[in-house]
Amino acid sequence: MNDSVRLHAFNRHVAAGGKVEPGDWMPDDYRRAVGKFVEMHANSELMGVLPEREWILRAPTLKRKLALTAKVQDEVGHAQLLYRVAEDLGKPREAMIADLLAGRTKFHNVFHYPTESWADVGRRSRSTSCTGATSC
Ligand SMILES: [Fe+2]
Repeated sequence: MNDSVRLHAFNRHVAAGGKVEPGDWMPDDYRRAVGKFVEMHANSELMGVLPEREWILRAPTLKRKLALTAKVQDEVGHAQLLYRVAEDLGKPREAMIADLLAGRTKFHNVFHYPTESWADVGRRSRSTSCTGATSC
């Protein structure tokens, strides 16, 4: 099957709502775009942990400390899963972490803002929960 036929079949499959797995054939620009999106999402999950973990010991009650600890664990798990998908799409995890640390890749801008109060923890959680490319 030549590339033109493959591309046509791929577009038809996607337009019909078909799933695309990382090991499936896909156009290079599609793979790059999906990989970049998944990497950004993984970075956001990981970076979202940093301001929240600072509040575990400062949470107002033991119940809230435990809830925030569980949330932080969940977010790290989300990052791990997304980095695995991005790896399957072709970019090594070490390269993704190096790019994140060097500022060559991005994460959700909400995590650039300080978390100055307990209320900010709740507000940030609501603003990034299942509304787009970050924390679910
Ligand atoms: Fe998440």
